[in-house]
Amino acid sequence: MNVVETVAGMDSARAALSGAVGLVPTMGALHDGHLSLVRKARADSDHVVVSVFVNPTQFGPQEDLQTYPRDMHRDLRLLEAEGVDIVFAPSTGEMYPPGFDEWVEVRGPLTATLEGAFRPQFFRGVTTVVARLLRIVQPHRAYFGEKDAQQLRVVRRMVREQGLPVEIVAMPTVREPDGLAMSSRNAYLSREERRAALVAPRALELAKDMVERGGEKDVARLKQAMERHIRREPLVRIDYIAVTDCETLEELAVIERPALLLLALRVGATRLIDNGLLALDRSP
Ligand code: PAJ
Repeated sequence: MNVVETVAGMDSARAALSGAVGLVPTMGALHDGHLSLVRKARADSDHVVVSVFVNPTQFGPQEDLQTYPRDMHRDLRLLEAEGVDIVFAPSTGEMYPPGFDEWVEVRGPLTATLEGAFRPQFFRGVTTVVARLLRIVQPHRAYFGEKDAQQLRVVRRMVREQGLPVEIVAMPTVREPDGLAMSSRNAYLSREERRAALVAPRALELAKDMVERGGEKDVARLKQAMERHIRREPLVRIDYIAVTDCETLEELAVIERPALLLLALRVGATRLIDNGLLALDRSP
């Protein structure tokens, strides 16, 4: 496995590859969610490139850039075991050289709502770094998790708007055995908080059950039931609960077609997001 730390090094490593290239962008502190993307890339492509870069521009001034978990040795060991060809692990100076001014931004409601409303700089940072990674690595396919549902849709839109020649492949959310969505940030949780965080998957299950078995279509009633469930857990605060169109992420008042349920919670000081699909009642 080739570990490349400079853009010039990545350019020459890329030039030596022939055949289909798959890219998995990450911020490291890898878990099975990341590795599911790597495995899919490995199965689809001749060469797999994984980027490990904690991207400062997507963190707000009050956020966890300094404390974000980092363990490059462990990450390299895991990626080597998955048969990854190249790990691109640039420094901040390589990704953002002095005078850097190539911001890539998706405008409109898709980036202004939900995560965008709580983290104003977040999507601009994500689209800027992903566009730069795609231009450097030039993959045929790039892999993203449904866990970050809004990010996935923003990246798809960015790729279309920028006319980048890459296929974006989405993979389902990988969960712990008890249902908690895997996240690098789960490492922040104390034992008590880890237990409290289970209200996220449980609230999603509750809503799924109400819609898919109970035939509930009214979003206000659905949110009320979820809020009641989550508020029983004193360590948890709700940033938002939203039921939206699957593509545009516009909020719905009534569920008349499959919808996406998105959830952002704070468990102590840790912010967690999760989401799930709400299909309509298919029983006769
Ligand atoms: P990071 O949080 O490291 O996630 C990297 C990729 O792994 C993202 O596409 C994310 O959706 C996916 N992922 C995370 N947890 C997952 C899970 N439990 N199941 C499936 N996939 C999961 O997302 C980022 O980094 C950054 O914003 C990045 C895109 C790298 C840009 O800096």
